[in-house]
Amino acid sequence: MPGADGPRKEAPGGEKPLAGAKIVGLHTTITAQTAVLMETLAALGAQCRWAACNIYSTLNEVAAALAESGFPVFAWKGESEDDFWWCIDRCVNVEGWQPNMILDDGGDLTHWIYKKYPNMFKKIKGIVEESVTGVHRLYQLSKAGKLCVPAMNVNDSVTKQKFDNLYCCRESILDGLKRTTDMMFGGKQVVVCGYGDGEGCCAALKAMGSIVYVTEIDPICALQACMDGFRLVKLNEVIRQVDIVITCTGNKNVVSREHLDRMKNGCIVCNMGHSNTEIDVVSVTPVRPVATPELTWERVRSQVDHVIWPDGKRIVLLAEVRARGGIGISWEFWDHPTTEAGKAPRSASPTVPSSPKRFPVLVPEDGDCAPATLSMEKYPLKSILNLPSPT
Ligand SMILES: NC(=O)c1ccc[n+]([C@@H]2O[C@H](COP(=O)([O-])OP(=O)(O)OC[C@H]3O[C@@H](n4cnc5c(N)ncnc54)[C@H](O)[C@@H]3O)[C@@H](O)[C@H]2O)c1
Repeated sequence: MPGADGPRKEAPGGEKPLAGAKIVGLHTTITAQTAVLMETLAALGAQCRWAACNIYSTLNEVAAALAESGFPVFAWKGESEDDFWWCIDRCVNVEGWQPNMILDDGGDLTHWIYKKYPNMFKKIKGIVEESVTGVHRLYQLSKAGKLCVPAMNVNDSVTKQKFDNLYCCRESILDGLKRTTDMMFGGKQVVVCGYGDGEGCCAALKAMGSIVYVTEIDPICALQACMDGFRLVKLNEVIRQVDIVITCTGNKNVVSREHLDRMKNGCIVCNMGHSNTEIDVVSVTPVRPVATPELTWERVRSQVDHVIWPDGKRIVLLAEVRARGGIGISWEFWDHPTTEAGKAPRSASPTVPSSPKRFPVLVPEDGDCAPATLSMEKYPLKSILNLPSPT
């Protein structure tokens, strides 16, 4: 991971630009990439405590290795909802230590601190947010006049938009579907909701021979989908015939109970988005508070559930419709957003005065190409483009 790893090597003479930073992270899942980011932050002088933003994607061996090397990490694969909040609380609520920086992915950590420990914001210098969902939530706080520290929107950094949201999703959607269902893609009818990071999903599925429909609410993104050769539809038009439904909108209740009722037997339902609220999974849950006794659930393998209707129809839910079937992203391109997230605390570190500007604070434009430039070491592009060395 040349991007996330790089700053360690660059810091001249063991310089510690993050000395004094106490970072609490709910950044991505606990994978090797996150481990490299944490090691880099620590090498630059920061203290870190970490939990995972997704209850399914933690690699237990990485979490164990981090814990063994002294990082306080609270995460394991297959946490319950209660475990998830317990882990966040253990990161934040510790005697004799208070965070002064938040690295968040989805906004749950920021909201937990606002709800439970608002006084901590007296010491917090800034929030770094990774995902579009978390950025939406920050805007809501900002509009309500409750955002009291600068926030950095890593989601809108050029490399996150151009690489993670397109190329990572292009690869990880196939990986997630293949690993969980072992399905063939050729000839399958797929509807992708949202043509943001959905663009990558659509491209991958089309290349594999699937027939891809797109739903959109934004006219520009809708037009882009058309220009790329996809059939723009309303979900209702195709819901009875599709083999796979994928949501990547960042929005709520895009797939309703009515849609789930109308899907055909064997339809696979998968969410690329950060939160499991894009699909109304609660309405088909067998447990309280919304018990649906007419439906039964059968766990067929890890992260794959069948929801069975009274007539025998089965819908295949991946990872209880949490992101990407709980599968990780290739380390190569995940290096870019990880690097942006790692750079952000440096610019908002306690040694730098807080920006008087509130929210949003974007990742600086001039640094944006640095992760890509570092990655280019392994592609024959750097000399051709005559690029300067990244700073
Ligand atoms: N799994 C991953 O690897 C990965 C990577 C990047 C982003 N994400 C997640 O994917 C989601 C989308 O992220 P993004 O960066 O593409 O956001 P985005 O805002 O760029 O794109 C979302 C698109 O969905 C459209 N949309 C919103 N509501 C809709 C609806 N009801 N029906 C149809 N379309 C609708 C929007 O118009 C927009 O074009 C977020 O939850 C984000 O966290 C996941």
